[in-house]
Amino acid sequence: MIGRLNHVGIATPSIERSAALYRDVLGACRIHPTVIVPDQGVAACFIDLPNTQLELIEPYGPDSPLTSFLSRHPLGGQHHLCFEVADLRAAVAELQRRGFDLLGQGVPRIGAHGWPIVFLHPRTMNGGLTELMEQPKRPAEP
Ligand code: CO
Repeated sequence: MIGRLNHVGIATPSIERSAALYRDVLGACRIHPTVIVPDQGVAACFIDLPNTQLELIEPYGPDSPLTSFLSRHPLGGQHHLCFEVADLRAAVAELQRRGFDLLGQGVPRIGAHGWPIVFLHPRTMNGGLTELMEQPKRPAEP
């Protein structure tokens, strides 16, 4: 079921300041424009690394689920891991059959990358919020 690590989600109170850290101090060369994902109450900015991406996320809107995370971690912090799966609906069905706890009843939503995603609750994933994303059906970027 599990495929590539697509990205590591990092919550931050300021995408602008965090992106500057990765760009100006750590030398990240490719930082994508920030996108708003109203459905998930976040703004997101992807940073390309040689083998994966970082997803900087900051709260968007009054009901953002990130607000409570940042109240516990005011400097920000690692928020989730995202793994690709070839068939998201099949993965959801198998995980539900095995009793895993999926957020939103496991109904896929469109994530910041534009592909369907679901989240697994930390309580059934070794304490870590885990995103599963349908493997992008496009050629790999050079
Ligand atoms: Co993500």
